[in-house]
Amino acid sequence: MKQSLLVTGGAGFIGSNFVRIALQQLPEARLINLDKLTYAGNLRNLTDIEQDPRYRFVQGDICDAALVARLFAEEGIDTVVHFAAESHVDRSIEGPGEFIRTNVVGTCTLLEAARKAWSASGEERGTRNENDSKHSAARNPQPASRRFRFLHVSTDEVYGSLGDTGLFTEQTPYDPRSPYSASKAGSDHLASAWFHTYGLPVLTTNCSNNYGPYHFPEKLIPLIIANALEGRELPVYGDGQNVRDWLYVEDHCRAILRVLEAGEVGETYNIGGNNEKKNLEVVETICDLLDARVDPLSSGEPRRSLIRFVKDRPGHDRRYAIDAGKIRRQLGWAPAVTFEEGIRQTIDWYLANPQWVAAVRDGSYRAYYQQMYGGR
Ligand code: NAD
Ligand code: TYD
Repeated sequence: MKQSLLVTGGAGFIGSNFVRIALQQLPEARLINLDKLTYAGNLRNLTDIEQDPRYRFVQGDICDAALVARLFAEEGIDTVVHFAAESHVDRSIEGPGEFIRTNVVGTCTLLEAARKAWSASGEERGTRNENDSKHSAARNPQPASRRFRFLHVSTDEVYGSLGDTGLFTEQTPYDPRSPYSASKAGSDHLASAWFHTYGLPVLTTNCSNNYGPYHFPEKLIPLIIANALEGRELPVYGDGQNVRDWLYVEDHCRAILRVLEAGEVGETYNIGGNNEKKNLEVVETICDLLDARVDPLSSGEPRRSLIRFVKDRPGHDRRYAIDAGKIRRQLGWAPAVTFEEGIRQTIDWYLANPQWVAAVRDGSYRAYYQQMYGGR
């Protein structure tokens, strides 16, 4: 039987990059994209692949247990890649409720549906040794032709905030600080519980800040690119010295495919870019690259003149940095794109796709689903 993937949140930033790469890298696989199409979901991210016969889009909520169960049954799902989430820290501070609903309750709904489908498939009986301890599911070989996998995509923000030194490893204790990271931490614990309690073949990845094409312009890098192109002010929170470890989105997608292929169930893999940068440095780099590429501002000033230091985010984590040694040693994955290359490629993409940015900014991307799928 061919692999049948359920990708949740596949119309979002990372999910849509993953859908495209997975269809290329897994030529035999079928891929179902379940996405609620919140403000962050944009089917224009996938116009180039939407006619692929191996691809199906379903608009729906991961909290809808009946819908999720129907998809598992209809499509014979054996692989789940779970991206769907509310993902923006600032929004979680303004309204945490939706983060708890989607990130915690939604993940639980999906884990339960997966458990039932996995159990019904008979694979559970063939692979689990009830007498064995916590890694029972991992130690027992599974049929290569059809292995169930549930890959839960999470974030390094669950580990809290670092000082000037140190790196997050898979052993770092959880210490989430924002409603967003707390809801993701909750979902990670659920994923782990479904492995330990039921033996569901779960894998978890915790990655650092992604950037690249199709990134919604509420997050730092696409917001700064879009504002700098339009000559608008560039808001830098606090002193601009907070550090993030930037990971090019395609590197992240390749890491996920590698974990699906060779990761050990029940394990967690940290994925990072080895690209620690202070926010101000990122903003200044974007300004300088744009000054070199596009027309000057009408004021004649360099784009750095648009930088404004604004009130800090409450509970703003100071520094994130990932030790990605485990995935490198055990699965042979390492990021291929340096920040210098990745930021240039990202800027090139935004310059080549002004209509994508305009549609997001004026909200017209939301009409695309109706246009494309409304009559079906
Ligand atoms: P995103 O906000 O761009 O996309 C989220 C997608 O999920 C959207 O398409 C949205 O419509 C969909 N969605 C939201 N609620 C849903 C629901 N209830 N049911 C079905 N679909 C729903 O997010 P992203 O940046 O692509 O992040 C994807 C995943 O990666 C998230 O789980 C996030 O926590 C994690 N992550 C992201 C980053 C990053 O830098 N972007 C870093 C680490 C981890
Ligand atoms: P963001 O892209 O929201 O990701 P996260 O909070 O998940 O790391 O923010 C990245 C960093 O940039 C974070 O330290 C907050 C900061 N930031 C700004 O300084 N200005 C902005 O307008 C935004 C959106 C973020």
